[in-house]
Parts: sequence; C-alpha cells; structure tokens
Amino acid sequence: MNFELTEEHLAVQQAARDFAQTELLPGVIERDEQQRFPAEEIKKMGELGFMSMMVDPKYGGGGMDSMSYVLAMEEISKIDASASVCMSVNNSLVCWGLETYGTDDQKEKYLRPLASNQAIGAFCLSEPEAGSDATSQKTTAIDNGDHYILNGTKNWITNGNSASYYLVIAQTDIEKGHKGINAFIVEKTWDGVTVGKKEDKLGIRGSDTHSIMFQDVKVPKENRIGEDGFGFKFAMKVLSGGRIGIAAQALGIASGAYELSLQYSKERKAFGKEIMKHQAIAFKLADMATEIEAARMLCLKAAWLKDNGQNYDRASAMAKLYASEVAMKTTVEAIQIHGGYGYVKEYHVERLMRDAKITQIYEGTSEVQRVVISRDVLR
Ligand code: CAA
Repeated sequence: MNFELTEEHLAVQQAARDFAQTELLPGVIERDEQQRFPAEEIKKMGELGFMSMMVDPKYGGGGMDSMSYVLAMEEISKIDASASVCMSVNNSLVCWGLETYGTDDQKEKYLRPLASNQAIGAFCLSEPEAGSDATSQKTTAIDNGDHYILNGTKNWITNGNSASYYLVIAQTDIEKGHKGINAFIVEKTWDGVTVGKKEDKLGIRGSDTHSIMFQDVKVPKENRIGEDGFGFKFAMKVLSGGRIGIAAQALGIASGAYELSLQYSKERKAFGKEIMKHQAIAFKLADMATEIEAARMLCLKAAWLKDNGQNYDRASAMAKLYASEVAMKTTVEAIQIHGGYGYVKEYHVERLMRDAKITQIYEGTSEVQRVVISRDVLR
C-alpha cells in the first residue's frame, strides 16, 4: 500500500484548500444562519472539476482517483460541510453509480450533464420508515408494460431541490424482498414529482435537504438501472463508496476544528502564557492530531483499495465509523479549547460541531457501519 501523495494529489489538495479559503469561507456563517444553499459556490466547484472528480473525461469528468477525492473532500469540509455533502452525493452516489452500472444511453443522457457541471443529482433511498432498514421500502414501482408507475415518499434527500435527476430506490415486487427492489433515474420535471419543504436542521444547514414525493410518476423501462431486482445491491455498492466520501467529510470537519484550535491556542494567553503551553490544552491537541491522522489513514486506505480494484466495503465502513466519531469528539474539544469564544458563531467551531453530528447518521448510522464491519469480521 502506498499512501505517498503524487504531484497530482498535492495539486488537487492545494486547489481545494485555496478554493475553500477564498470562495467558501467568506459567506459560510451567513449561509449556515440563513440555511442558504451554496448554489454559486457549487457551480464554481463544478468548473474546477470537484463535482465529478472520478468520472471518465469522455463524459466531462476529471478522471481522477479516489485518493484525490478524499484529499479534496477533506479540504472543502474543513470550511463548509454543506458544500461538501453536495459534492459527495454527486460524486460518489450519483455519478459513480451511473458510470459503473448505467447503460451507454443512460450515461449519455444523464451522466454527461452531471459530470460537465450542467446538473447535479440526488440519491433517494431513505423513507419515513426505512432509514437503516433499507430493505423495507414502501415506495413502489409497478411494472406497466414499457414503463413503471412510481409512488411513494423519500425523506432527508440531500440536493433534494437543486438536483435535476434523482436515483430512486423502489420496491417492484414485495414478495421477493430485497431481490424485488430496483433503482431508477427520475427527472425532477416529470409529472407527479413534488419537492417537499426544506428541512430545518441542526447542522449542514446550507445543504438542500428535502422530502420528495412521487405520485403516479411514469418512469420509462430504459431508466431502470441494471437487471430487474438489482436495486438493493446497487444501493449497497453505491453507499459503500459513498461512505469514503462521508468519512473524508468527517475527517475534514475534525481537521478544520483542530487547525482552528491550534491557531487559537497559540494566540490566546491565560495565566501568563499562551494556552498551548498549558499541558491541559497541549494534551488535547496531541490527542486530536493522533486521532485525525488515524482517521486519515483509514480514509486513504479505503480509497486506495477502491482505486486498486479490491473490496472496500469493510474499509469504507471502518473509515466512516471512526472518522465520524473523531469529528464529533474533536469538535467538542475544539469548543472547550476556545472556551466562551467557541460557543459563539464567529469562531466557526460551534458550526463544525453541529455539522459533525450528521456524519454519524447519514449514509448509514454508526450502528449500520458496525453491522457491516462485524458481519465481515465474523464471516
Ligand atoms: N455489495 C453488494 N451486495 C451487498 C452489499 C454490498 N456492499 N451489502 C449487502 N449486499 C447484498 C447481500 O449480499 C444480500 O444479497 P444476497 O441475499 O443475494 O446474498 C443483500 O444485499 C441483502 O443484504 P443484507 O442481508 O446484508 O441486508 P440487510 O437488510 O441485513 O441490511 C444493512 C444490511 C447494512 C443494514 C443495509 O440495509 C444498510 O446499509 N442500511 C443503511 C442504508 C443507508 O446507508 N441509508 C442512508 C441513506 S442515503 C444517504 O444518506 C445519502 C445522503 O443524502 C447523504
């Protein structure tokens, strides 16, 4: 395993760092307060190639590896996790899913605009009563000759309003359990598709999280992804890669909080010296640095396995489980280091703490990651 960063990796990392500092940082507090989707910023991220990093250049993508994606996700997430979740869903769930399992026609029609900054996508799996228990889909897609009729409601959909295309998971044959689930490409403008209200969230408040309702939506057969009954496995495969993106997001939130804490503890004085010279603070910084480094190694390992054609299901679950716990712990400690300043918005760490929490919930809760890991360990 070689985690040595190439010149290309370092260039991507620097480009993401510069972009986050110059374009994302200035408005991030206001966007969080106003729950405003970073539409212009996402457009610019697309122009720089961050929205379709791993897609084949023949479709307009960046043709980069997953290690580059982890590096860019970390840098963007240090500053704005609302922007990075949009980036993660588009890259890992939507573009990767379409490129890996879509037909040539599907790639031409949907992947090309998604990869060339003309559209963004969303992944619709969760339902009011099917979050972790993803096989219990209530959304149905009934075979009606040359098309399916789609009915149901999806909840907590990232990019829900801003997406042009949805990848929707639905039950086509209840008798067959998970083998009766399919995945479909659905266009937002089709009759019967309604975007519900934006969720008022604890964190990642700029991100565009909505319910999506489907009422008698006519979905052409050619918009089904893969063979009949492939939808659950499609969701699992896509989420396994998606977890690398969210692990890198958690890593970025943690390292953002750590960097702010390090800076603050060099400047702030108490009891006659900079607070970093007090062991109570120095040890916190040491723990943060160690845990962040371990999380980074898990993220890069999962990405490396993916880039080298090896199974990464367990590695991506481990990376997400651990990095999200590090994000939560680090951001809480970052507030403690900042004292009263950490509790106000101006210093960013309270936002990072609120943003950290979702990384333990979406794309599979920490409990789901433990299910994936323990099944593999016990196999
Ligand atoms: N690759 C390929 N196939 C897989 C797989 C994988 N990674 N994981 C499971 N499967 C297959 C199994 O082999 C099995 O197939 P067979 O019967 O043919 O062997 C089938 O799928 C069913 O698997 P399980 O029996 O393991 O399924 P389960 O019901 O026990 O569920 C689970 C397992 C891990 C809990 C799964 O349901 C899961 O991951 N749930 C969480 C879903 C999730 O992440 N939701 C988040 C929503 S998306 C989101 O958050 C995006 C966003 O907006 C940010």
